[in-house]
Amino acid sequence: MIAIGSDHAGYGLKQAVMKHLEEKELEFKDYGTYSEASCDYPDFAEAVSQAIIKGEADRGILICGTGIGISIAANRHREIRAALCGDCFSAKATREHNDANILAMGARVVGEGLALQIVDTFLETEFSHGPNHVRRISKLS
Ligand code: RB5
Repeated sequence: MIAIGSDHAGYGLKQAVMKHLEEKELEFKDYGTYSEASCDYPDFAEAVSQAIIKGEADRGILICGTGIGISIAANRHREIRAALCGDCFSAKATREHNDANILAMGARVVGEGLALQIVDTFLETEFSHGPNHVRRISKLS
């Protein structure tokens, strides 16, 4: 299950991402926000992070204007490895090397077409389980 959340700045792109996930028949749950009314990105980072920490979701997608605030907020949890990606190379590498469990994107940074490709890359790429990467991730916590 994929947990998805955004603030008001990410709301429009989140709608496009959810339509894309629906078309791919991927299961997801929207943790808000549910309109373009101004709101605070830490609230949605928290909701998606908790879904992963509690095991309700395997992966998360978080979107705000830049992707920066919402990824900073999610990464305050030691169980969360949120990667802010604006390109497919980073989305692939962060799954292979960092076993990132949340993809963060900036709706004011990436266009919809690129964002959907980043989502696909992130969701389709598995962690490498390379011993170097496992060791480095263990040092994060
Ligand atoms: C909202 O205006 C904006 O500050 C927020 O979406 C995000 O970009 C913060 O990092």
